[in-house]
Amino acid sequence: MSQTLPIEFAEQPHPSPTTPEKRAAILRDPGFGRAFTDHMVTIRYSEGKGWHSAKVGPREAIPMDPASAVLHYSQEIFEGLKAYRTANGGAVMFRPEENARRFNKSAERLAMPSLPEKTFVEAVDRLVAIDRDWIPEGEGSLYLRPFMFANEVFLGVKPSSEYLFIVIASPVGSYFKSKDSAVSVWVEQELTRAAPGGTGAAKCGGNYAASLMAQMDAYKHGCEQVVFLDAVERRWIEELGGMNIFFVFDDSSMVTPPLGGTILPGITRASILTLAKDMKIAVREEPYALDQWRADAASGRLRETFACGTAAVLTPIGTVKSRDGDFVIGNGGSGAQTEKLKATLIDIQRCRAKDMHGWVHKVF
Ligand code: PLP
Ligand code: COI
Repeated sequence: MSQTLPIEFAEQPHPSPTTPEKRAAILRDPGFGRAFTDHMVTIRYSEGKGWHSAKVGPREAIPMDPASAVLHYSQEIFEGLKAYRTANGGAVMFRPEENARRFNKSAERLAMPSLPEKTFVEAVDRLVAIDRDWIPEGEGSLYLRPFMFANEVFLGVKPSSEYLFIVIASPVGSYFKSKDSAVSVWVEQELTRAAPGGTGAAKCGGNYAASLMAQMDAYKHGCEQVVFLDAVERRWIEELGGMNIFFVFDDSSMVTPPLGGTILPGITRASILTLAKDMKIAVREEPYALDQWRADAASGRLRETFACGTAAVLTPIGTVKSRDGDFVIGNGGSGAQTEKLKATLIDIQRCRAKDMHGWVHKVF
């Protein structure tokens, strides 16, 4: 059911929010996704009624019936985006409309109702505004997690008639714990993440559940992340468990796997494509094979490889491990082009550089 009337939000501030002292202690070293702010946004959906009961209120547990559909059939989607503190005391977000759009694409794939993009953006705006004191200073940011799940109490397999949309927020530092300049990755050659016709391009929880066994393999091999290959030939590099990937060559050109329905269309990936164009860096969106990656790293034709995403920003990949052996990229650390693109992106996100493409969304 499409929504026509604007959705009104009720606002109910937390009666006993975290003390400034406790908050300051958390913000000194927040880690990633461990600490949460005082509030959350909830909006309910019911068949026949549409979206209703929008509320900004205290962050609290959600009562759930054990027969709630999501607990059985995983009809759930989510997004991830960040709010940054600016030098003049304001707050901005990076391309939240793109997250709203992708959220609705994910909703469509999971047979869920779409949420008006304006409402999605208003929900995150309101949460950032009410929890503004939780945005870390310096290199940190406030990670926003909008999500939606099926909560009809029914065990029949069908799209739910009831949904809950929620936004929570978490002050974050770096996604990776390692202080090394580059991460190591494990190339998974047995387990796949997404098949043609599946849900690979949707940001649904099920994709991440399906990636965990491979992620455990990565940890076992001393790697921070897993790289997935295509499900048909087990040959072409697709993406990491939670990031897209770019390869940088000796002529400064880059390759990134094409969006073919099995990888997530990253907003960071899309932004890098645009920035590369601005910087006159040629990028080919074309399949790139594991064997080629290894050969190009050995010959020196490949200079750098980086992972990119909201949580990871741009993270260089230094070492690649697989059942066929390991190889190192460049000098095993970061590279000049990765650092240049990363600095360019971060400067735009934090309002330190001109926002040429209208990507920065002012919250206040
Ligand atoms: N690929 C996967 C599987 C992800 O989970 C993410 C993170 O959201 C990305 C890619 C990067 O997407 P974005 O740049 O929009 O954060
Ligand atoms: C993100 O970058 O926002 C992600 O969703 C990656 C991971 C934390 C799931």
